[in-house]
Amino acid sequence: MSKKRILSGVQPTGNLHLGNYLGAIRNWVEGQSEYDNYFCVVDLHAITVPHNPATLAADTYAIAALYLACGIDLEHSTIFVQSHIPAHSELTWLLNCITPLNWLTDMIQFKEKAVKQGENVGTGLLDYPVLMAADILLYDADKVPVGEDQKQHLELTRDIAVRFNHLFGRGETVLKLPEPLIRREGARVMSLTDGTNKMSKSDPSELSRINLLDPPETITKKIKRCKTDPVRGLTFDDPERPECHNLLTLYMLLSGKTKEEVAVECQDLGWGQFKPLLTETVISALTPIQEKYKAVRNEEGYLESVLRDGREKAGAIAEETLAKVKSALGYSKPL
Ligand code: TYM
Repeated sequence: MSKKRILSGVQPTGNLHLGNYLGAIRNWVEGQSEYDNYFCVVDLHAITVPHNPATLAADTYAIAALYLACGIDLEHSTIFVQSHIPAHSELTWLLNCITPLNWLTDMIQFKEKAVKQGENVGTGLLDYPVLMAADILLYDADKVPVGEDQKQHLELTRDIAVRFNHLFGRGETVLKLPEPLIRREGARVMSLTDGTNKMSKSDPSELSRINLLDPPETITKKIKRCKTDPVRGLTFDDPERPECHNLLTLYMLLSGKTKEEVAVECQDLGWGQFKPLLTETVISALTPIQEKYKAVRNEEGYLESVLRDGREKAGAIAEETLAKVKSALGYSKPL
């Protein structure tokens, strides 16, 4: 029996942080030998908010290199850049035409991001989830490993696929319905400066997140300054102590200990004892990633060849799905 297929992606907006790693990439790595995996750098999504043309290409390469540095293995996985495969844009247009407008205006992330943009909300920001649906549906993905914040976009993807199949499938499944793969732990890593807010690339405060490429002294500084509370003894799951829950969860996930082990270890600790422990754990989890990242970047032509192979392999699948969709919609074949 052939392996089930996975597709996921990250936007090349700035550096990757612990939320991206624990919510998504680490899970891609852990399960990869069980699946046929496709991981893209979603650079078309990156321009749905104001972006810097001078850094877009370099940021895209950096994310692809980080995928490798985090442990994506080319024996099981294909890495590619979204904009290198025109089928993503083309399928987006076709799906746009069957997607009711109110499905998009109802999206939580659209509403949140639109408020931040004020009067300059681009059509691309509204259409962002349709592009994401195209990313997934082009590859007949069975599962999509993401953080909690992408759940609604996956539901929309399924709704779009159901609608397409119903309207144009003539009883056949043209577009496969994907399942979200959201882990309970790490699916929503919170900001270091406010335990009620998600850790995010767009938070203006650098102190709110730990980036995968932060050097040890930056990690030490960020943890030293992170928000805590005046209570001694650290516990999970106290709604009055969101920062405490978040920091213990980070410690648990990065140390590989169980929740029970961490709960016992930390029940009598004060912040002054816990912070150095967390700092050391974060640094030892990120050091091998940073070393691998340097090695990938230093190997002349390596990343280019990975992305070239990725484009070829992913592009062939995407073209096939696009042809099926166009045929279902009644388009003539190109002459
Ligand atoms: P993006 O680039 O915002 O985030 C990439 C991945 O990281 C997860 N994530 C988090 N997980 C836990 N805690 C956090 N604080 C946190 N912040 C981010 C996200 O859930 C995501 O899995 N629209 C997507 C990218 C995308 C995509 C796709 C994903 C485009 N096409 C197709 C899957 C399949 C996004 O903006 O992710």
